[in-house]
Amino acid sequence: MAAARRAFDEGPWGRMPAVERGRLLTRLGLRVEASAAALAALESRDTGKPLTQGKADVAAVLRFFEFYGGAGDKIHGQTIPFLPGYTALTLREPHGVVAGIIPWNYPMQILARVLGAALAMGNTLVVKPAEDAALSTLRIAELALEAGFPEGVFNVVTGYGQEAGAALAGHPGVDYVTFTGSPPTGTAIQQAAAVNNRGVTMELGGKSPQIVFADADLEAALPVLVGAIIQNGGQTCSAGSRILIERPVYEKLAAALAERFGRLAAGPHDADLDLGALISVRQRSRVAAMTEAAEAAGTPILARGSVVAGAPPGGFYFAPVLFGPVDPAAEIAQAEVFGPVLSLFPFDDESEAVRLANGTGYGLVAGVWTRDGGRQHRVAKGVRAGQVFVNGYGAGGGIELPFGGFGKSGHGREKGFEALYDMSATKTIVFNHG
Ligand code: NAI
Ligand code: MG
Repeated sequence: MAAARRAFDEGPWGRMPAVERGRLLTRLGLRVEASAAALAALESRDTGKPLTQGKADVAAVLRFFEFYGGAGDKIHGQTIPFLPGYTALTLREPHGVVAGIIPWNYPMQILARVLGAALAMGNTLVVKPAEDAALSTLRIAELALEAGFPEGVFNVVTGYGQEAGAALAGHPGVDYVTFTGSPPTGTAIQQAAAVNNRGVTMELGGKSPQIVFADADLEAALPVLVGAIIQNGGQTCSAGSRILIERPVYEKLAAALAERFGRLAAGPHDADLDLGALISVRQRSRVAAMTEAAEAAGTPILARGSVVAGAPPGGFYFAPVLFGPVDPAAEIAQAEVFGPVLSLFPFDDESEAVRLANGTGYGLVAGVWTRDGGRQHRVAKGVRAGQVFVNGYGAGGGIELPFGGFGKSGHGREKGFEALYDMSATKTIVFNHG
């Protein structure tokens, strides 16, 4: 904290033009590119995710540094028509020291989105990676040193949430806190930050729906519907964990999904299958317990994938599960599982679809599948979600797209230009020149 404060208050960072800060981010991106294969392998081994996903993560990290490397000098204030004899203008100023508390599901990507936006705006940063997956953060910190960031601009403190995370969130020297993770931890972090009256960005996951109408191109939808829940073993804030299906095509689509689910395989990260291991024995137990509770409550299982033969015993593998039809009030329909578990729900008309989509308290991402243009607009507006995809879905993709939640999914926006607003504050200056 002292290093970050010194770097902000006294170091060269505070006087550095935005274009120079951007160049450092761009240089960091080039280092990441040169180490791409090693970083992908490191992330994959540390988290258990398939190597292909590790490579996709590195590609996203590169895009974040590329985007924010070029963005800091393109954010500017406004002039405001005010009283005669006055000129009023606004500046976007950095908060100061930003604390970033990072989860384990996409450790490197989420680090890059926080680091890119915070540093582009001229803040300094203290990051606490998740105790379950800290290696890529430490490696990127080494690359940042090589890229030439001044001392103290980007700092990493490892440790457990209750200790290092809590100490950081409530530290009086922190000017702004950004967090991605579970709602209860988000609440704890907001309470800690509130003691110092600090602003926060909260990205707290979801129970994101995809709504499939009978007129949709089911063939185009099918692989996207599967990918949105299988990606990263379902451990994705924006995982498409609910599919709402218009009744005339329910049986047909459920059967097609069941056929795909039956063929999904989980196994070691370097075997590069549909799914790797889940992050920890704790997460595997949590996913298994929620699935078993749904099964015990009589929720029909339409299909189950498999764990490949020969996967190391004791690994945190979990065979994907497809449930349907699911009672919208059931625990499995309402709670974020954060595993490869998909629930299907039939619906009869547009208004019921929107009501079901909005029925969990979460509101992060939604998908709408229909060829009807009017319906595309109505449903996209009716659904309470930070991102809505029409005839597509982007679980985590699109670094240029503002991303964040409504309701229980949190507040504030990351990614894109919007993140630069969260990572800065407006100062208004009024000149009385007579
Ligand atoms: P978590 O939200 O507790 O952990 C995320 C980060 O917060 C980690 O870096 C952790 O060390 C830190 N942390 C934990 N307690 C803290 C505290 N009191 N003060 C400050 N920092 C703290 O998530 P956890 O416990 O690893 O997973 C539990 C569930 O949370 C998962 O099963 C999943 O449902 C959800 N989750 C959602 C994520 C998302 O992206 N939406 C990411 C990770 C977990
Ligand atoms: Mg926790």
